[in-house]
Amino acid sequence: MSEAVKVCVTGAAGQIAYSLLYSIAKGDVFGSDQPIILTLLDIAPMEGVLNGVVMELMDCAMPLLKEVIPTCDEKVAFKDIDAAFLVGAMPRREGMERKDLLAANIKIFKSQGAALDTVAKKTVKVVVVGNPANTNALICSKYAPSIPKENFSCLTRLDQNRAQAQIAARLGIPNSAVSNVIIWGNHSSTQFPDVRHAKAIVNGKTVPVPEAVKDDNYLKNEFLTTVQKRGGEVIKARKLSSAMSAAKATADHMRDWWFGTQGDNWVSMGVFSTGAYGIPEGIMYSYPVRIANKQWKIVEGLEINDFAREKMDLTAKELCEERAMAEEICNQ
Ligand code: NAI
Repeated sequence: MSEAVKVCVTGAAGQIAYSLLYSIAKGDVFGSDQPIILTLLDIAPMEGVLNGVVMELMDCAMPLLKEVIPTCDEKVAFKDIDAAFLVGAMPRREGMERKDLLAANIKIFKSQGAALDTVAKKTVKVVVVGNPANTNALICSKYAPSIPKENFSCLTRLDQNRAQAQIAARLGIPNSAVSNVIIWGNHSSTQFPDVRHAKAIVNGKTVPVPEAVKDDNYLKNEFLTTVQKRGGEVIKARKLSSAMSAAKATADHMRDWWFGTQGDNWVSMGVFSTGAYGIPEGIMYSYPVRIANKQWKIVEGLEINDFAREKMDLTAKELCEERAMAEEICNQ
């Protein structure tokens, strides 16, 4: 067996972590023969709950789980870690706008960025889940200047999975028969779920999704809004934000980062923009990426039509506004 990887999950007493920790500890993310040391970060008032989670992890008797370190201290949580799942934040409640969340959460990610900078491995891979995920990831990276910007990302995989599942249901085919769905931009209602370059296997034949769906109006309207508003719909129904599906998507995101994407396939993740596809530099923008050797690379050269251009710019604009607000909060 190889040496243990040290992995931190923040918000470890919360609902996403409750599913995510099990998934990580049983080998879904880093491999079924990879020993794991878990550090669990939450805030002091949650210490009791966190201890309950530690008890349950112990009671799972997982072969791969070597050690569990619960803490309320960022520097203990991030010490020498190889991977960070930054889930902890104030979740969106029914009727709450994402922008209201920004002020409450930016400070957390500024502080965690600084702590990562001081004590984490420089190779650490960071996925930010806590909302507003893109801008939180940006701020976290900004305050961790000794760690490469490419090591920071945010979760849009849940949106990708939602989009993939909608198309699969529409076509009556398995989820695994749909690939290369793209989420552009922000993990918010301005995101652009794009299936123009996606593929579906229908009756044993691989075809472009628009050709399989044969309904441009659906793809430009109902499909878009269903994916964009799915998070809100889950909150309305559950009175809590998506947790099981968010944990699954977070595990998918890190697993693909760790092991790479398959063949020609790509996945979507929020990464630091250096201007690809005419998107402003220096925001965390969700792009299609291929991954090899733990390095992501934006898929270049996809044709962007006028409809897509407009949607991609709209979500970029929102991210620029979020960045401006976040920087203002950080400078206060
Ligand atoms: P939750 O409220 O159940 O858990 C959040 C946990 O974070 C709580 O235990 C809380 O005490 C902890 N926390 C708060 N401040 C912290 C800090 N400074 N350090 C460490 N822990 C801290 O929330 P849930 O449902 O687990 O969601 C977590 C976040 O993920 C929310 O921001 C939610 O909006 C976001 N989310 C993002 C998705 C995405 O696709 N990017 C999808 C679903 C949720």
